Amino acid sequence: MQKLEVTGGKKLEGEVTISGAKNSSLPILISSLLTDQKLVLHNIPHLNDVSSMITLLRELNVDITMHENISLTTQADNVTSWTAPYDIVRTMRASIMVIAPCLARFGKAIVSLPGGCLIGSRPIDMHLSGLEAMGAKCFIKEGYIHCSAPKGLKGATVSFDNKTVTGTENILMAATLAKGTTTIKNAACEPEIVDLANCLIKMGAQIQGQGTETIQVDGVKKLGGAEHTIMPDRIESGTFLAAATATRGHIRIKNTNHKYLKNVISKLKLAGAEITCKEDWIELDMKGKRPKAVNIKTAPYPKFPTDMQAQFMAINSIADGNSKVQETVFENRFMHIDEMKRMGADITIDNNCAFIKGVKSLSGAEVIASDLRASASLIISALVAEGTSNINRVYHIDRGYEFIEEKMQRLGANIVRKID
Ligand code: EPU
Repeated sequence: MQKLEVTGGKKLEGEVTISGAKNSSLPILISSLLTDQKLVLHNIPHLNDVSSMITLLRELNVDITMHENISLTTQADNVTSWTAPYDIVRTMRASIMVIAPCLARFGKAIVSLPGGCLIGSRPIDMHLSGLEAMGAKCFIKEGYIHCSAPKGLKGATVSFDNKTVTGTENILMAATLAKGTTTIKNAACEPEIVDLANCLIKMGAQIQGQGTETIQVDGVKKLGGAEHTIMPDRIESGTFLAAATATRGHIRIKNTNHKYLKNVISKLKLAGAEITCKEDWIELDMKGKRPKAVNIKTAPYPKFPTDMQAQFMAINSIADGNSKVQETVFENRFMHIDEMKRMGADITIDNNCAFIKGVKSLSGAEVIASDLRASASLIISALVAEGTSNINRVYHIDRGYEFIEEKMQRLGANIVRKID
C-alpha cells in the first residue's frame, strides 16, 4: 500500500504546469470508437483513470500507440468486442460512456452497471432513457446493461430532468452517427463537454450549441480522423490555487485557462487572495495572510464545481471566521470531513450542509482518502497542519492528479510517497 507523508508548515511558492484534463481525456479517448480512422491526441495526462481507459479500449481491440510523453494515436478499425467488463467499470465510472459509440457505430453495447460509489448512488437512468428515446433497447441482466439498436440510432429530442455531464457526453456521441437531428435539452455546459464536441467536430460531426443548455446534432454517416489537444485541467488548476491559499503562499500556474475558473477565482479573492490572470497562466498571492472563511454552494457549471468543494473545506477549516458549505450535486460528498476532524477541524454536518468554524491550526494525523477530491483536500489540510500526516489509500489521488507529489515538491511542499 502506498501513502503520502506530508509535513506541514511550508508556504507553496513558485510555478507549476497544469496537465491535460482528466474529464475531457476520458470521453475523447472513448470517442475514438466512433471512427475507423486515426485520432491523434495531445496533452493526455498520466493518470490511473487514463490507463484504465486505455486498457478498456484495448480490450475492445482499439489499436493505441503511445508517442513521446503526452501524445497517442488511436485507431478503432478492427473492433472485436462491445463489452465493458465489471473490473474496469468498477474502478472508473466514465467507462459507461462506451455505450454511446458502440451503439451508434456497431448497434450493440454491453457495459457493467457501475453501481453506487462513495460520493453517492450515481444512477445512469438519464443516460439510458436518452438512448431509448433514440431507438435503443436497453435491459439489465446479471449486472450488465445490454443495449442494442440493430437498425441504427435515430435523432430525437432528449430532455434531461437534471444536468448530467457524462449523460450529455453519451448522448452527444450517440447523436453524431444517428439518422437525423438530435436536440439535447437541459444539457450540461461543462467545458469538458465543449472540448469533446470540438474534437467530434474535427472528426466531421455536425454539432451546434455546445456549452449551452441546448445542443443540436445533425447525424452524419461516418466520422473521420482528427488531431486534438486536450484542454487544461480546471480542477487541478483550482486545487493548486486552493493549496496556495491555505498555505498563505504565492504561486503561478501555467498552461491553464482562467475562463473556466471564474467562480473558483472569485471565491479565492473573497478568501483574501490577490489573483492576476493572463491568457494561459494565473498567479495567486496571499501576501502571507491567513485566508478568510467563504461560503460555498456547489452546482453544475458555470456555478461552483462540486469537484472543488472538498479543497475549499480545507481552506475554510483553517480560515478566519465561520462558513457554510452546501453540496447540491452529490448526496454523499462529505467523506473527507471526518478525516479533517481527526486533524483538528471543527465541522458539523446537517444534511447537505457543512458548518465550519475556522481554527488557528490543524495537527498532523493518520488519515484515509475516500475519493479523488477528498484526497486533494487532505493533502491541503496536511500542508497547513503542524507536524506530519500520513494520507493512506493514495491510489485515489493517482486517478486524477498527475505527478502530485513532484509538483507539490517543486512548490516547496514537504511531501513524499512511501510504500508499506
Ligand atoms: N444523475 C442521475 N441520473 C443519471 C445521471 C446522473 O440521477 O442518469 C445524478 C448523479 O447521481 C448526480 C448528478 O446527477 O447526483 C450529477 O451527476 P453527473 O452525471 O453530472 O456526474 P458524472 O457525469 O457521473 C462528472 C464528472 C465528475 C463530476 C460530475 C459533476 C467525469 C468523468 N466525471 O460525473 O468528476 O463530479 O460530473 O460535475 O466527467 C471527479 O473528477 O472527481 C468527478 C467525480
